[in-house]
Amino acid sequence: MEIIRDVQEMQRRCGDLRRQGKRIAFVPTMGYLHEGHLSLLREGRRQGDVLALSIFVNPIQFGAGEDFEAYPRDLERDCELARREGVDLVFNPKRDDLYPEGFATHVTVSGLTETLCGESRPGHFQGVTTVVCKLFNIIGPDVALFGRKDFQQLAVIQRMARDLDLAVEIRGMPIVREADGLAMSSRNVYLGPAERNQALALVDSLRLARRLVVSGARRAAAVLDAVEQRIRREPLAEIDYIRICHQETLQEMEEVTPDSVLLLAVRFGKTRLIDNHVLFEELNP
Ligand code: PAJ
Repeated sequence: MEIIRDVQEMQRRCGDLRRQGKRIAFVPTMGYLHEGHLSLLREGRRQGDVLALSIFVNPIQFGAGEDFEAYPRDLERDCELARREGVDLVFNPKRDDLYPEGFATHVTVSGLTETLCGESRPGHFQGVTTVVCKLFNIIGPDVALFGRKDFQQLAVIQRMARDLDLAVEIRGMPIVREADGLAMSSRNVYLGPAERNQALALVDSLRLARRLVVSGARRAAAVLDAVEQRIRREPLAEIDYIRICHQETLQEMEEVTPDSVLLLAVRFGKTRLIDNHVLFEELNP
């Protein structure tokens, strides 16, 4: 496994590999890897001849007052995990190399980014699409893997890839959960014991919604109501949003259909957690 920090060197290395006919699979991350990230690497290993992983805590996707400085980092451990998953190239660029003095160009996907997480995190998705576009240009992957944990992010990146004719296949992968159901996230380390316990209301409310839909509920308002009541039982939970939206357009829906996704964002103390479920799909256990 090679660890590359230099942008030009990474671009050269990936260009050489592509010219040799290698298919490159790419997993972009901010590091502090967990099983969710590793599931993407495993699928990437199956998809590509070469598996590239980026580790970069992207400053421009954090708002003022957000956790950029505090975001957990452990490059050594990440590299060890990456090695075990058969990663060939780790790209760990320096901030000033990706964003040199005078950097002035951003990628904006309109429509999908002003809603949901975009409402409480203005500019966040522009930061994400800009860095992902740069990483695609540096690496030139044939396929890139993203988790459905960040459902809106995946929808935004799919839209960007289509709109800008990017020659990369975007693959969405299932949400990986802890044994008790909490969706894995690098930010879960911020949760205190009481918060961690109460955070189970997220997956619990998704399960509840799924049960309602299985038993025939189709009115979004009724499902949202039940979800809200379940989450409000937790004294530390502060709801940011609970919505049922169309999977591609992210427009709110009044009826639950096979296109519907239930999306949640809830704060526990200073930690904001997101989760979601496509209501016509199974949710185990
Ligand atoms: P990060 O939060 O590190 O996540 C990297 C990838 O792992 C994303 O595609 C995310 O959806 C996926 N992931 C995280 N938790 C997951 C889980 N529990 N199950 C499945 N997949 C999971 O998302 C980012 O970084 C950044 O915004 C990035 C795309 C790298 C741009 O900076």
